[in-house]
Amino acid sequence: MCGIVGYIGTAEAAPLLLEGLRRLEYRGYDSAGVTVCANGSLDTRKMAGKIVDLEQAIGGDLPQGTLGIAHTRWATHGAPTATNAHPHHNGADDIAVVHNGIIENAGVLRQKLEELGHELRSETDTEVLAHLIDEAYDDNLEEAVAAALQQVEGTYGIAVVSSRDPEKLVAARNGSPLLLGIGDHSLFVASDAAAVVEHTRDVVYLDDGELAVLDREGYRTSDLRGSPLTKEVSRVSWDLGTIERGGFPHYMLKEIFEQPDSVRDTMRGRLLVEQGTARLGGLSSCLPSQDIAKYNRIVLTACGTSWHAALIGEYMLEEFARIPVETEYASEFRYRDPVLDERSLVIALSQSGETADTLAAIREAKEKGARVVSIVNVVGSSIARAADCGVYIHAGPEIGVASTKAFTSQVVALALITLYLSTQSEPLQEQATVAKALQQLPDQIGQILARNEEIRGMAERYHLNKNFLYLGRGYNFPVALEGALKLKEISYIHAEGYPAAEMKHGPIALIDENMPVVFIAPQGRVYQKILSNVEEVKARGGRVIAITTEGNGELDRLADHIVTVPTTHEMLQPVLTVIPLQLLAYHIAVLRGCHVDQPRNLAKSVTVE
Ligand code: G6P
Repeated sequence: MCGIVGYIGTAEAAPLLLEGLRRLEYRGYDSAGVTVCANGSLDTRKMAGKIVDLEQAIGGDLPQGTLGIAHTRWATHGAPTATNAHPHHNGADDIAVVHNGIIENAGVLRQKLEELGHELRSETDTEVLAHLIDEAYDDNLEEAVAAALQQVEGTYGIAVVSSRDPEKLVAARNGSPLLLGIGDHSLFVASDAAAVVEHTRDVVYLDDGELAVLDREGYRTSDLRGSPLTKEVSRVSWDLGTIERGGFPHYMLKEIFEQPDSVRDTMRGRLLVEQGTARLGGLSSCLPSQDIAKYNRIVLTACGTSWHAALIGEYMLEEFARIPVETEYASEFRYRDPVLDERSLVIALSQSGETADTLAAIREAKEKGARVVSIVNVVGSSIARAADCGVYIHAGPEIGVASTKAFTSQVVALALITLYLSTQSEPLQEQATVAKALQQLPDQIGQILARNEEIRGMAERYHLNKNFLYLGRGYNFPVALEGALKLKEISYIHAEGYPAAEMKHGPIALIDENMPVVFIAPQGRVYQKILSNVEEVKARGGRVIAITTEGNGELDRLADHIVTVPTTHEMLQPVLTVIPLQLLAYHIAVLRGCHVDQPRNLAKSVTVE
């Protein structure tokens, strides 16, 4: 949610900043801007629209200089106009700020500043920061930034430059991600490593309440009172090749096709097939498997697609670990004064590791004494660090706004945790069957991907429909929710996911020949039940698309279209049944001419409430 990048070094800043923005565009894309500081003044260019629009507007007339900051925005305060685009200046146009987050007391601060004679130009909370820094400025930029931030309530990742102190870039973080990229003769600040990895894989993750000063000599970090801090330099494990499209027309399609590898990477070195368990180094420190008996309740919490993965985890953990499990939307959970204590185990899931509501839910749970475990993709992210311990899913960077490979890897990570926690309570036989089935998943996903053309053909038949219903039961009910979400997110078609049996309590009234109904109906314990639901839809003239397991001919007479997937252990079937739904949503969106990787109004990482 908003991407920021800053640079100081020996090279021209503007091309590096624009390239960094392109790599962060998935975080927001409704306006963009860049400021370069040189020759005693600031040169700022900004406008509504995507980064490509900004690049076209700038053309060959790039701002010159070797120090600068830039921003791509996902609007929170104020419409996505050029005036509201970042960087924001103070009145004298000699301080420029880019910001990710929300200043909660911006209204009060704005009023105070106006009383002091400041004239603010935009509707944003960020502009207040530029004026506060101006007000606090004596003769040193970092001191002014620290003084300004002490008046601020809310979240921020910021980068600031000023022509009054022109050889310096100041960055600070509270609640919004920020890292430093440490290169040869070049230093970066960025919302995430994607913006810098082409130049350096050495990064320093800033923590909340920390400030960094980058200048021609190097960088230093401190708290907001100026006490120096020594920070560890981490090495990013992936490189530029990992985040490029690699011949695919969209990141989303690339990421769908990466799933055999991403799922394999989630399991790498962790699965002990013969013993029917998993070795999870990150968990053993704070959640030794024998300690599971200490807990009387597990709460899974997440947002969006991660919440759907969590729901599958609820079914798995309850079935195998035999502990009551609930899945909660992080945004609801945190405001409900949840009943938690040291016998509660909270598992938070997040691809980005930065979702504000999930992070706040973790903090709430920790305050109440619960043990908190995270399942996160982005290494070093806020959620990974806020939890007591966790499991990285190692799916690799996910750029497409609609989450695909992170979902399947989250489900696999949950299966590993289930094995890890349940070997105490269940006969080993069943766990060993699950472990063997996990091992086969990457190849089985590959077999489904080979049906891409078949699914594209199906999309051609249905891409003009206005509504879709997705129905599933048991482990595949969350897949119905996920299939519907994928379609909504990227094609803007109204779609609803429902537990198949609930259809009779309302949605059945919607069924007619214009309502495609996608049944997720692999063979398994609830298959016969879902078959009756298919009959009910057919009897009312609905169009049926069925996702079922290979070798099942029974649906031939009922379904208008069938996509088969290989059979696996029932609890892992969602990893396979979701793949055709990802492809269906993708092809429908492409056929409708939608912007698949950057759907309207969405952002990859929602770092505001
Ligand atoms: C946004 C994204 C979704 C994602 C959700 C949760 O809405 O567009 O794809 O599922 O946030 O994000 P997280 O990073 O916490 O998994």
